[in-house]
Amino acid sequence: MVAFGHARIILALSGAGILLLQWGCVASQELSRGSWATLLKNSGVSAMHMVLTHNNKVIIFDRTDFGPSNISLPSGKCRNDPNDTALKTDCWAHSIEYDIATNSVRPLTIETDTWCSSGALLADGRLVQMGGYNDGAQVVRYFSPCERCDWFESPSRLSVSRWYATAQILPDNRVIVVGGIYQFSYEFVPKQTAGETVYQLPFLLQTADSFQNNLYPFVYLSSDGNLFIFANADSILLDYSTNKIVRRFPTMPGMEARNYPSSGSSVMLPLEGETGYKYVEILVCGGASSRAYLQATNGTFTPASQTCGRLKITDANPKWEMETMPIHRVMGDMLLLPTGDVLIINGAQSGTAGWFLARGPVLSPLLYKPKLGANGRFQLLTPSQTPRLYHSTAAVLPDGRILVGGSNPNPTYAFSNVLYPTELSLEAFSPPYLDPAYASRRPTVSHISSTILRHGNPFSLYFSMEAMLSEDSILINLLAPPFTSHSFSMNHRVLQLKILQVTTQLMGKSYEVVTETPTSTVIAPAGYYILYLVHAGLPSQGIWVHLSAP
Ligand SMILES: *[C@@H]1O[C@H](CO)[C@@H](O)[C@H](O)[C@H]1NC(C)=O
Ligand SMILES: *[C@@H]1O[C@H](CO)[C@@H](O)[C@H](O)[C@H]1NC(C)=O
Ligand SMILES: *[C@@H]1O[C@H](CO)[C@@H](O)[C@H](O)[C@H]1NC(C)=O
Repeated sequence: MVAFGHARIILALSGAGILLLQWGCVASQELSRGSWATLLKNSGVSAMHMVLTHNNKVIIFDRTDFGPSNISLPSGKCRNDPNDTALKTDCWAHSIEYDIATNSVRPLTIETDTWCSSGALLADGRLVQMGGYNDGAQVVRYFSPCERCDWFESPSRLSVSRWYATAQILPDNRVIVVGGIYQFSYEFVPKQTAGETVYQLPFLLQTADSFQNNLYPFVYLSSDGNLFIFANADSILLDYSTNKIVRRFPTMPGMEARNYPSSGSSVMLPLEGETGYKYVEILVCGGASSRAYLQATNGTFTPASQTCGRLKITDANPKWEMETMPIHRVMGDMLLLPTGDVLIINGAQSGTAGWFLARGPVLSPLLYKPKLGANGRFQLLTPSQTPRLYHSTAAVLPDGRILVGGSNPNPTYAFSNVLYPTELSLEAFSPPYLDPAYASRRPTVSHISSTILRHGNPFSLYFSMEAMLSEDSILINLLAPPFTSHSFSMNHRVLQLKILQVTTQLMGKSYEVVTETPTSTVIAPAGYYILYLVHAGLPSQGIWVHLSAP
């Protein structure tokens, strides 16, 4: 049971019948630790990249040069690619569409190599994905969510090869692609003018050491329209329209590096409508010493980082607030939950990202409640049975479960005679808020005045629940589904909408809440969001809304 309240005591009867006493704004630790379910033992591919689309499908893909996967292309289809390093004629699929409702997969066709690439969801809900390896390193691909759609390769290419780069959607629906191996630059998709190429970003060279270990930088669109870029321990605010660094932040304390292959993970904490979405706070957790990669190639698996850092990047004098996790973790996946809390899932206790380079899978997800006091934010949850190391992913589903897949620390698909076999399974983790004991207390949204919204648009939600209403325990969260790969969920954001009015309907137990969308595309880039009404820490079923471009 979770409850928030202001200057009051909340008595809550938990599912187990235990009486909890809570003071002020402090929420308790969860009594439930969540639960796991296997969805598919064999999804056919290993989930190196994962993204949820607004038709309740999840697009999953690995790379074209992994050799045979465990799912064929639709009958008669094969890909002939003289440049493929594994199979010149390949009748195996390397991408699937997972259908949440039917728990089944459909094979998709990738033409060129998508290995370690990046992506973003556009205003119209299409996925744009770019880069990769070999013949795919400069390719820009699109996927339109629909019943029979497949990957489409654009004739417009990236200006340079981008392998291990990060993509971020911009307020004007372009995408900025930052970094990649030996690329100390960024570029836009699409280009604004025919001659436009890349913009140099020496920060990426300065933060790389001898081994280039600052890949998949953590990139966020901040509330002032600039880009926050974090690489290893350093971070900047970049005005990408003028290619000027407008701010440099203090170095994150500690000996660790936080980006690939010392892969930590990161989220931008929810932006709050109550305060005009002005304040931006970044959370970075886990990682490994910058020497850990070379040590692991030598057979020494250095313990991963045990720390997180929080930085209020909109403060006049921002300082890293460091915290210690209950467990060491490299290659975790950090996700924003429907409640606005953070989940850290997957990864290893020692070593780094890379082939064969990690040991000690971390099986327990970690819940992090950013609103709690510094000493009580973490809680370990129910462990899974499946190691999820390098090349594993996770995604929040509309119903609040977490889809978990992937793990392949081997350079081919390897199902036996290796320490950590290639994982083709998909699992779902149900966080504590989905515990059946809370079912009757969860709010149910019966109606929304419109699911097509514009910026600065007031709208109403009607909901009911058995629990007694606590007005200041209501949150309306818009969650932007991210593109996840290599321990970073690009374009992930949660917007806590401003609540204008709550009224109790005549019959009781049902309520109307009036809220409004942000006015700015900087705060809320146009696109599909999942709306959750949260009461006392328990989210409703998610509802897709489309925030259309102004
Ligand atoms: C590959 O697919 C076959 C046929 O569906 C199945 O029997 C086998 O268990 C799968 N292998 C793995 C590793 O999932
Ligand atoms: C294979 O690679 C070469 C050299 O990069 C390129 O010219 C050629 O078009 C590629 N072939 C295919 C079928 O992609
Ligand atoms: C790896 O082992 C070699 C040979 O023993 C040694 O020279 C080198 O310093 C080691 N590197 C690291 C990073 O430990």
